[in-house]
Amino acid sequence: MKKLFLILTVVLLVVCPVFCLGSSENGKNADNTLTIATSPDFPPFESLNNGKPEGIEIDILDLICKELGKELKIEQMDFDSVLPGVQAGKYDVGVSGISITEQRKKNVLFTEPYCLAAQAIVVPEKSKIKSKADLDGKKVSVQSGTTAESFCMANGYDVSSYAANSDAEAAVVFGKVDAWVIDDLTAADMVKVYNASAGVKLVILDEAMTSEPYAFAFKKGNDTLVAQVNSVLVKLVSDGTVAKIFEKYDAPYTSPVK
Ligand code: ARG
Repeated sequence: MKKLFLILTVVLLVVCPVFCLGSSENGKNADNTLTIATSPDFPPFESLNNGKPEGIEIDILDLICKELGKELKIEQMDFDSVLPGVQAGKYDVGVSGISITEQRKKNVLFTEPYCLAAQAIVVPEKSKIKSKADLDGKKVSVQSGTTAESFCMANGYDVSSYAANSDAEAAVVFGKVDAWVIDDLTAADMVKVYNASAGVKLVILDEAMTSEPYAFAFKKGNDTLVAQVNSVLVKLVSDGTVAKIFEKYDAPYTSPVK
């Protein structure tokens, strides 16, 4: 009897710490980190401030992580690597001002949308291009892998694609292309910054060419995680938190909820 008790005590002493340690380590590292893939060249959604990513989507993800008790980890890359990386399971979430499209839905899962955006045309102030109709046969710059790129290609424009948004902007500034096509809120932000110090000013034409809902993207099969994120995101949209975050970045907010 005494022997059995001794054996049991030894077994408990050895086994218990192993189990306890094991589970707390899993919780901290594997399960509790939410790794996002982002292209931080897209203000006000994500951009670098002294090398640190900030913006509307970083704020939203911070709140989501807080609610879910997860630690946010940010991986930076060009936009055209975000969705392939998510699809391959290298990152948990694509956070990059990503528009929901039917084509992308074949490859990734999306959360509910949290805002609406549109493609805009940016030209030098003296340009003869005044509307979408004037883009026919013209050279346009876009960022690689974006909806701007597929929209311009589908319309038959002469498209130059750049990995970085700033290079697509530079192309119109230096006259390599006639126009730059990019999402409206980012156009507003980048043009404002550029015009503050530029000789030749850029203008954004007042014509929304598309209507695109933004959402966060996940690897197919990650339905549980999408549901968890959705439960927080939908609340942040409906209680006005997302609208307040847009206000903080001086950006007009269009809700995707009718
Ligand atoms: N909304 C557009 C798209 O989904 C452009 C996104 C670009 N994002 C970025 N972080 N540079 O294609």
